[in-house]
Amino acid sequence: MNLKGASILVTGGAGFAGSCLVEQLVARGAQVTVVDNLARGKRENLAAVWERIRFEELDTRQDAFLDLLVAGRYDLVFHLAAVSYVPDSVRDPQRDLETNLLATFRLVETIRANKLSTAVINTSSAAVYGDLNKVPLSEGDLCIPVSPYGVSKLAGERYLDVYAQLYGLRGASMRFFSLFGPRQEKQVVFDFIRKLHDNPHQMLMFGDGSQVRDLNYVENAVDAALCIAENAPLQGEVYNVAAGHSLSILGLAQMIARQMGISPAYTFTGSVRPGDPQKWVADIAKLRALGYEPRIDLEEGMRRTIAWFRSRAA
Ligand SMILES: NC(=O)c1ccc[n+]([C@@H]2O[C@H](COP(=O)([O-])OP(=O)(O)OC[C@H]3O[C@@H](n4cnc5c(N)ncnc54)[C@H](O)[C@@H]3O)[C@@H](O)[C@H]2O)c1
Repeated sequence: MNLKGASILVTGGAGFAGSCLVEQLVARGAQVTVVDNLARGKRENLAAVWERIRFEELDTRQDAFLDLLVAGRYDLVFHLAAVSYVPDSVRDPQRDLETNLLATFRLVETIRANKLSTAVINTSSAAVYGDLNKVPLSEGDLCIPVSPYGVSKLAGERYLDVYAQLYGLRGASMRFFSLFGPRQEKQVVFDFIRKLHDNPHQMLMFGDGSQVRDLNYVENAVDAALCIAENAPLQGEVYNVAAGHSLSILGLAQMIARQMGISPAYTFTGSVRPGDPQKWVADIAKLRALGYEPRIDLEEGMRRTIAWFRSRAA
């Protein structure tokens, strides 16, 4: 699909990854409408493009969102609106179900029922794999989620695929592995930077530091989303979206501390949070076959993220 001049709806577009995607879509000449209920997102995240987008403060669980979808006759929806945090889904599984699965189902069902030609790029997660303890994880691997979030994301991508097979809906799902970058105010990288900023002498971590993650700078994930929209067959398939390299949680803390110019003592809780798997590393060959290559490496992404944190804390 050619994104220049395309009419594109981004749900969750005021959030961390969504706002970065909106900036890139605007830069490519797309006509962008953002839907966000501002549960976690912020208008400020869209400040750089505010004059060039349409913003609708709407909840994807409401009928008004579906009315907008039908009236807008969009070429493409990037669907990112979600309860985006595993611990939130553990605390309130019903809200996770309604936002991450039911709203996704109603999105594809509205496209089918109204015979829209709108394509859907759906955002899923590495959480669909659960705790397989296999390295690296490929799209064809078994999925046994260990959190309500993982279950709802998996069901959402299965619905998209079934709608592609049965009704000819055009779309694909992106399994984002752990992202980090400016504007993210949760998750491991932000938590570590904040902890080290607040106490440069000591750092307490969940588990024993050996958990492994495939951390990807947010702009790389946006590149992947654009690459999928432009080059993928959009027949319901799924793609791992990651950097394709692994780092232990202790290694991550050490990298951040080094870049911040400090040498803390590390301590460990010994236990991980419920719903947190031990190892998440992606095989990204399927995405690479579309022409994607991570552009910004971990060290550079971390420098930018720490610089953002410092400018925000100042
Ligand atoms: N950040 C990661 O590491 C990561 C990893 C895997 C998957 N994902 C997925 O990527 C997507 C973006 O995540 P993010 O990290 O930018 O999170 P985020 O919380 O910053 O963005 C989600 C956005 O959706 C909005 N939203 C939530 N519920 C809504 C609703 N019912 N109606 C309308 N808007 C609603 C929020 O206000 C927020 O702006 C999500 O689907 C998330 O599950 C993220």
